[in-house]
Amino acid sequence: MDFKVADLSLADFGRKEIRLAEHEMPGLMAVRKEYAASQPLRGAKIMGSLHMTIQTAVLIETLVALGAEVRWVSCNIFSTQDHAAAAVAVGPNGTVDNPQGVPVFAWKGETLEEYWWCTEQALTWPGGEGPNMILDDGGDATLLVHKGAEYEKAGAVPSATENDPEEWHVIIDLLTRTVGEQKKWTKIAEQIKGVTEETTTGVHRLYEMFKSGTLLFPAINVNDSVTKSKFDNKYGCRHSVIDGLNRATDVLIGGKVAVVCGYGDVGKGCADALRGQGARVIVTEIDPICALQAAMDGFQVTTLEEVVGIADIFVTTTGNFDIITADHMAKMKHQAIVSNIGHFDNEIDMAGLTKTPGIVRNNIKPQVDEWVFPDGHSILVLAEGRLMNLGCATGHPSFVMSNSFTNQVIAQIELFTKTEEYPIGVYTLPKHLDEKVARLHLDALGVKLTTLTKAQAEYIGVNVEGPYKPEHYRY
Ligand code: NAI
Repeated sequence: MDFKVADLSLADFGRKEIRLAEHEMPGLMAVRKEYAASQPLRGAKIMGSLHMTIQTAVLIETLVALGAEVRWVSCNIFSTQDHAAAAVAVGPNGTVDNPQGVPVFAWKGETLEEYWWCTEQALTWPGGEGPNMILDDGGDATLLVHKGAEYEKAGAVPSATENDPEEWHVIIDLLTRTVGEQKKWTKIAEQIKGVTEETTTGVHRLYEMFKSGTLLFPAINVNDSVTKSKFDNKYGCRHSVIDGLNRATDVLIGGKVAVVCGYGDVGKGCADALRGQGARVIVTEIDPICALQAAMDGFQVTTLEEVVGIADIFVTTTGNFDIITADHMAKMKHQAIVSNIGHFDNEIDMAGLTKTPGIVRNNIKPQVDEWVFPDGHSILVLAEGRLMNLGCATGHPSFVMSNSFTNQVIAQIELFTKTEEYPIGVYTLPKHLDEKVARLHLDALGVKLTTLTKAQAEYIGVNVEGPYKPEHYRY
């Protein structure tokens, strides 16, 4: 079996944590039970690009339990938990000397070259074939296949320019090496029945591709299942933003001024958590609706420029770029903490920071850097501007990820088994499946649902067994 992880001897530890996580992931375990006999993913060759954590290990082993062949990478250079990767490679029945699990190519602290090499490996089955399904988080695997196929069609790979980000140079190098006469990427794209996408940023990329007519296979937007974005993005970040700050800095949050940029699902969870720790939280927004929500939730809403010099902690949550610029960072308080929890690392202008004349980088420990400005003041940047909850801590806890990943598994089954019902486009799962995911998580929390009477159901125009809300309902 081909794979590459940091240290296979961590597999035992990983397996113990996977066992504990399984108990906290009732949705995934219920799906395993429901589909054990029918094996709906038999024949599926799933390439996954999603943070290689303990929770993801339970997802991977669920896909395998349903019949799929799987190859995996992390979707971020810092987010792999090495013991999880080792346990997945060894597998529940293998040993360190005889790994029998899933080919995983992931370790904490990859270089960008290694990251894209891993992605290519996971997209290449032994014998050179590709996958027939992608499970993506942020869209990097989907992007590589699409760009490869696009350049094969054009007959050439364009050069990267000086102004392109470093990562684009790495992607262009990889494609220059692999795009060719054999049409590797075109063939892979043709075999793929569909992709299921985990996060807001990846979903955004998919809709853009569909709009421009370049999307090559159908996609299910898992992010916008209610039981994903209204839970993982919000309650998951409410947990893991504090975990990231604590493990990275252990600074007391109570009494500090914290700025949360963006008040979408992730921003709402982060602002709530920081307030829960006693921070005085300030929100920035561009959308009047979200700004009004933040104000009515009791937060001061203003621009970053107004408060950049008085805040102690910054968290970007926008999915947008250039939110905190080098100029902003130059004006911050001594030892202000600068972090991002959005998917990509361009919310904080790290390239601009590096180019500040006279700036000195002082590495405190992995994923924590002090940047000292020529005037002597410094700031602490977490995870080099990459998502801090996965870079500095272990991401979201199992229970919330069980909701997200149960949607992922159901979406994979949908696209793989009902391919002809999904022409190229971007879809969300039907509401009854969203409600099913929620239902699978109620018992574990001791929740008792009220059952509608037939008369009540008729009165509000729904079925007794649901769905209970119209499509336009926003929760
Ligand atoms: P969202 O679209 O609900 O929220 C983003 C908010 O940022 C919007 O309200 C938008 O108006 C605002 N915004 C955009 N540009 C802005 C600017 N210049 N200044 C201030 N506000 C601005 O998206 P969601 O679901 O909250 O996701 C945000 C990011 O977090 C995405 O990149 C997503 O992929 C990622 N994500 C990360 C997770 C993690 O564990 N680290 C978990 C879930 C999502």
